[in-house]
Amino acid sequence: MMRKQIAAANWKMNLSLEQAEALADQLIAGNMTLSADQQVLLAVPFPYLLPIKNKISLQSNVFVAAQNCAATKNGAYTGEVSAEMLKGMDIAYVIIGHSERREYYHEDNKILADKVNLALEYGIKPVFCCGEPLSIREAGTQNSYVELQLKESLFHLEKEQLRNFIIAYEPIWAIGTGKTASSDQAQDMHAHIRSVIASYAGQEIADSVSILYGGSVKAANAAEIFGKKDVDGGLVGGASLIATEYNTIINSLKRS
Ligand code: PGA
Repeated sequence: MMRKQIAAANWKMNLSLEQAEALADQLIAGNMTLSADQQVLLAVPFPYLLPIKNKISLQSNVFVAAQNCAATKNGAYTGEVSAEMLKGMDIAYVIIGHSERREYYHEDNKILADKVNLALEYGIKPVFCCGEPLSIREAGTQNSYVELQLKESLFHLEKEQLRNFIIAYEPIWAIGTGKTASSDQAQDMHAHIRSVIASYAGQEIADSVSILYGGSVKAANAAEIFGKKDVDGGLVGGASLIATEYNTIINSLKRS
């Protein structure tokens, strides 16, 4: 069976509730007909999780995702949202380690390991983000940089737990910049990530993990990038806010 092919929208901190609901309506109207091995995730701001979840409730293989969760279980952490709360709302996916969280909120590999642990404890699948900044790409050390991100945040887990992950490779220099990694650059890194997972958890588990590419994915480049062997879809920011763009991106997923 083919690995899950996934189009994950990352709405970030955009849209009013009214706009968010309208976008969900447009996506549904634009037809999100998915095969059994395809999925659409909509990572929406916390307050929109339930309203958008209600909107998409009749769509098969379409899920909402949180964009973050707390690194602590519960307690006096004003403004935080716990994995337990997400579970209570029946949210099945959470983005962990987006580069904007790493950069603006100083989330390091260790904090992200704590978040991963809590998500798994509550049965929520992490969309774990990794990716190098421009300086690392220019130095040519992106493979070891990404490997360390994976090792420090994930490789304390039981091997079998890695089956619950979606990995998103997002080179920071390609996020929101209009500058996409070439499909070959994406493929090279995705193959590397899969080999790193295989060296820890074995080839069969590594082959089951969907690895998404993120960074300026749009309707015009999605099919080429998603067509690569180890690219199992995308994590899409800007272009996911435009229904026609995103519907095309969904339709660019591989089909078995
Ligand atoms: P972008 O963002 O598609 O706007 O480059 C991707 C992301 O940050 O997940």
